[in-house]
Amino acid sequence: MAPSTYLSFFIIISMIFICHALSPTPSPKLYERICKESGQKDFEQRCLKLIEAYPQITLIEDYLTFCRSFLKIVAIEKAVKSQQQVKEIMNKYPSSQPIKECGDDYNTVVIEVQGALREDPEMISMAVNYASDALDMCERSLADEKIVNTSSIVALNHDMKLYTNIVVIAGAPVAQWIERPFPKRKVVGSTPTWRVSFFAQNALLFFFLKEKCILNDQLINSSF
Ligand SMILES: *[C@@H]1O[C@H](CO)[C@@H](O)[C@H](O)[C@H]1NC(C)=O
Repeated sequence: MAPSTYLSFFIIISMIFICHALSPTPSPKLYERICKESGQKDFEQRCLKLIEAYPQITLIEDYLTFCRSFLKIVAIEKAVKSQQQVKEIMNKYPSSQPIKECGDDYNTVVIEVQGALREDPEMISMAVNYASDALDMCERSLADEKIVNTSSIVALNHDMKLYTNIVVIAGAPVAQWIERPFPKRKVVGSTPTWRVSFFAQNALLFFFLKEKCILNDQLINSSF
């Protein structure tokens, strides 16, 4: 091979390296990680599609802001709209008990997602979980509806469940950060230091209880 061939080969290889260095794979954005968290491909696809319709939410980089923005901009409006639709179906079939129950469940959904926005950060996930439970209850009620075609409510549930699950997933790390001042012990009892302090704590507790018992005995004895 002529030296120029080597040279151009070298240049091409170098360029490939430089291009790779200049365009590193971008790390996934927060919303992408949230959508992926469930581990379900179908959920992930629907989640990405939903959130990508709100460019301002795709830019958010912390979980708490994500939860509150998603609630404020997306989930609450969706919940209120769904509640309205269920109410209309309820008015159309006033004798259906399962649909009436779904109406009540959707009132809960709205109350919980609106409440979640006002909640302390560590309670957001829990409040939205109640909303999610209400959707499950509606779903179960509908199984008893044998006359009216409830496929439109089933579809509403399916959508609303996506919205609540997104907040539940995004809200879980918020709650964990707040718990952090009390770190969890990984392997309880296996480290000697932990065993020593465990013994020490129990010894203290033992002496404390003993003191209390003696005191109580004295009190009991003196009162008779
Ligand atoms: C219920 O209605 C939907 C359309 O709203 C329709 O696709 C479905 O086949 C209906 N189901 C039954 C059991 O009639």
